Amino acid sequence: MKTAGIYIHIPFCKSKCIYCDFYSVTGQNERIEYFVNALIHEIEICSNKITDWTFDTIFIGGGTPSLFNAHQVEKIIEALNNRYDLSSIIEFTIEANPGEAPKEKLKDFYSLGINRLSIGVQSFQSSLLQFLSRIHSKEDVFKTFQSARDAGFENINCDLIYNIPEQSLDDWLDDLNTLAIINPEHISAYSLTVEQDTKLFALVQNKTVKMPADELHQQFNAITYSTLQKNNYAQYEISNYSKPNRECLHNLHYWKNNFYLGFGPSAHSYDGKRRWNNFSDLEEYITLLENGKSPVETFDEITEIEKINEIIGFGLRMTKGFEISRIPLHLKTQFQKQLRQAKIKFPKMIIEKNNRIKLTQEGMNFADAIAVEMTLV
Ligand SMILES: C[S@@+](CC[C@H](N)C(=O)[O-])C[C@H]1O[C@@H](n2cnc3c(N)ncnc32)[C@H](O)[C@@H]1O
Ligand code: SF4
Repeated sequence: MKTAGIYIHIPFCKSKCIYCDFYSVTGQNERIEYFVNALIHEIEICSNKITDWTFDTIFIGGGTPSLFNAHQVEKIIEALNNRYDLSSIIEFTIEANPGEAPKEKLKDFYSLGINRLSIGVQSFQSSLLQFLSRIHSKEDVFKTFQSARDAGFENINCDLIYNIPEQSLDDWLDDLNTLAIINPEHISAYSLTVEQDTKLFALVQNKTVKMPADELHQQFNAITYSTLQKNNYAQYEISNYSKPNRECLHNLHYWKNNFYLGFGPSAHSYDGKRRWNNFSDLEEYITLLENGKSPVETFDEITEIEKINEIIGFGLRMTKGFEISRIPLHLKTQFQKQLRQAKIKFPKMIIEKNNRIKLTQEGMNFADAIAVEMTLV
């Protein structure tokens, strides 16, 4: 078995952003202590079933983990440490929102062994931050970033969002260049997606807001690639760029179909054969665990074909692509047929070389459509 990742979902936010469909609640900080106790219980229950995995990454995400104080985070780490062998952990990330992570707190996080910080910058343009309903300013980003450096973090990621309604190409270029100046080790540049059950979805549906046209989207993609490359950030996944050897090892677990264990409401887990998801409801999660019950809502066996389709789908999103040898012998004929079809439909966008399939830079614009074309049935 390859090494695996641990994900902890912290489902609390100060306010809900219009575009976000990650599970989180607002105005319920008085439930944090109950949640932490439930989480510790889940970590304990699960450790009876998962006994022989080796973990090398931990990711505390959300929601807004930086709302937690160091003592709450310490309790979670202690629970993990009591039940799992954490001696092989090489990357330990926590997410922080700009303006919500003071230097003292970041110092405490760092002293707990957390060695990577992921800051949700999103944009440096005040009008776009406002549109996205973010509650931080450009200055908050600079301050939080400097606090993180002062606290000792040498591995920092910053998330940016582009393809925002009313965003110009110059706005985006300015965001990329501004971020490159503060020089984080890793940049995630996400294209804004309209998720169901968000305020943004309703605004697009009732035509109050219009998303940028596909053509503009592709121009945004091109600017992202060229500007970040100029600043020594190499793309390794559609939305992810890093300085040498600073790729996010935790996210690579997801993209390479490695195992991972998720704790907290809405968290997912995967053991190569099965995938299971927790309830996306804080009160249900707490109540189930208080009564000694499992918080797992769905449990799916993954068929061989589903697994291969995931290897293809995630693989095409990575610049290195995927190894053809991961396709089992009895599916090779069907795979070659799909590949031929995909090459006809998307000419000069698919590269087959050294036993790998990968996409060209232009092909990356159509990664999802190409994956659909290559899907095995
Ligand atoms: C779930 S958030 C958690 C991090 C933190 N709470 C924050 O907002 O900064 C992780 C990242 O997902 C990205 N994200 C969330 N919803 C998105 C959407 N609809 N489109 C593009 N990116 C999105 C944002 O860049 C965000 O930083
Ligand atoms: S983007 Fe971050 S802060 Fe905004 S609602 Fe989602 S998790 Fe919370």
